[in-house]
Amino acid sequence: MKAIMVTAPGKIDIIEKDLPKIQSENEILVRIKAVGICGSDMHIYHGTNPLATYPRVIGHEFVGEVVETGAGVTRVKAGDRVTIEPILYCGECYACRTERQNVCEKLEVMGVHRDGGFQEFVVVPEKNAHKFDEHLDWEEAVMIEPFTIAAQSTWRGDVRKGDYVFIMGAGPIGLCLLQYAKHKGAICMISDLDIDRLEIAKKLGADYILHAGQMDVVEEVLKITQGMGANVTLDAVCIPKTFEQAVEVTSVAGRVVVLGFGVAPSQIPQLPITKRELTIVGSRLQNNKFPEVVELFNKKALNPRALISHTFQFDQIEEAIKLIETQSEKTCKVILKF
Ligand SMILES: NC(=O)c1ccc[n+]([C@@H]2O[C@H](COP(=O)([O-])OP(=O)(O)OC[C@H]3O[C@@H](n4cnc5c(N)ncnc54)[C@H](O)[C@@H]3O)[C@@H](O)[C@H]2O)c1
Ligand SMILES: [Zn+2]
Ligand SMILES: [Zn+2]
Repeated sequence: MKAIMVTAPGKIDIIEKDLPKIQSENEILVRIKAVGICGSDMHIYHGTNPLATYPRVIGHEFVGEVVETGAGVTRVKAGDRVTIEPILYCGECYACRTERQNVCEKLEVMGVHRDGGFQEFVVVPEKNAHKFDEHLDWEEAVMIEPFTIAAQSTWRGDVRKGDYVFIMGAGPIGLCLLQYAKHKGAICMISDLDIDRLEIAKKLGADYILHAGQMDVVEEVLKITQGMGANVTLDAVCIPKTFEQAVEVTSVAGRVVVLGFGVAPSQIPQLPITKRELTIVGSRLQNNKFPEVVELFNKKALNPRALISHTFQFDQIEEAIKLIETQSEKTCKVILKF
C-alpha cells in the first residue's frame, strides 16, 4: 500500500509500505478515504514541530471505512464509516485519572508521535473509531476532527448562550470556533487580517467581523460591547500580541482560551486578571468530544463544507503543499482523497 511520509524536515515522499495487520482483538483495520491537511502537518514537514520525530507518516484528520475487525470488537463492523480520534494515552497518570486524557503525560498523537492517517490503511484500537452516518460524504466528515478542537475550546471557555465571544483569527480553527460558539447561542465577533476569510465568517453567521489590519480590535470589541469587553476570548491566531490583547479585551468574570504552541513570551500584567477575576485556560486537542461533534454532523447542525477550499488526490500531495505555501490566502481546509 502507499503512504505519504515526511522522511526528514522538508522532504516528503510517497512510499510503499506493508499492509498493517490487526495485532490484538480490540483493533480494527480501516481503509482511509479522505484526510485533511492541517497547519501542524505543515509544521512537521517544515521541521518546526518540536514534538514530531522522523520519518513520519503524517495526518491526524482522517476518515475511512472499516474493512476488518478483531475478535473482541463490538462497537463497529466492516463497512462502517468512521472518523479516527488520533490520540493515545496511558490511562494511569493524573490527567487520565481525572478524565483529561488529552493531556496525558505519555500522550501520543497519530501523525505526530506515531504514524498517522496519510496512508491507504491503518490499524487502530476500536475505541478510537467513531461511526458517522452514511449521508455524510468523506470530505465533510474529515472536518469532524477540527470541529472537536472547537468543542474543546468552547467547553474550556465555558461559552454560554447570550455571551459575547471574541474569536481572534478566521483560519480553519477560528471558523470552527465561530460555528461552535454560534451553535451554543453566543454573540460572535471575529477578527482576521484577511478580508476573504472574514467574508466566510460573515456567511457562517458572525455577528461582527473585525479587520485587525485596519482597526484596533480591542477598542472595537469594547465599542460593540458598550465597554464591557468579551465574556469569552478565544485566541486562534496564537501570537504573543493576541494573547496580550485577549487579556486586555476580556470582561469581568470572563474567560480567555489559549490554543497556541508558541514559546515566545507575552507581556501580561497582573492587574486585569485579578481585578476582573479572569479565567485563563489552555485548550489542547480534545477530550471525549468526538461523540457530540459526530452527532452535530449527523444532524447537519454545522457547515463543514464552507471551510473546504480544495480537494486533491493523495498522490498530488506535492501540488497541495505548494498551493498552501504559495497561496495561503486562497486556501482554507485542503483535503486529500484516497
Ligand atoms: N490547541 C489546539 O488543540 C490546536 C489545534 C489546532 C490548531 N491550533 C492552533 O490554532 C491556531 C490557528 O490554526 P489555523 O489552522 O486556523 O491557522 P491559520 O494560520 O490558518 O489561521 C490563522 C488566521 O489568523 C489570521 N491572523 C494573523 N494575524 C492576525 C492578527 N494579528 N489578528 C487577527 N487575525 C490574524 C490569519 O490571517 C489567519 O487567517 C494555530 O496557531 C494552531 O497551531 C491549536
Ligand atoms: Zn489539525
Ligand atoms: Zn495518562
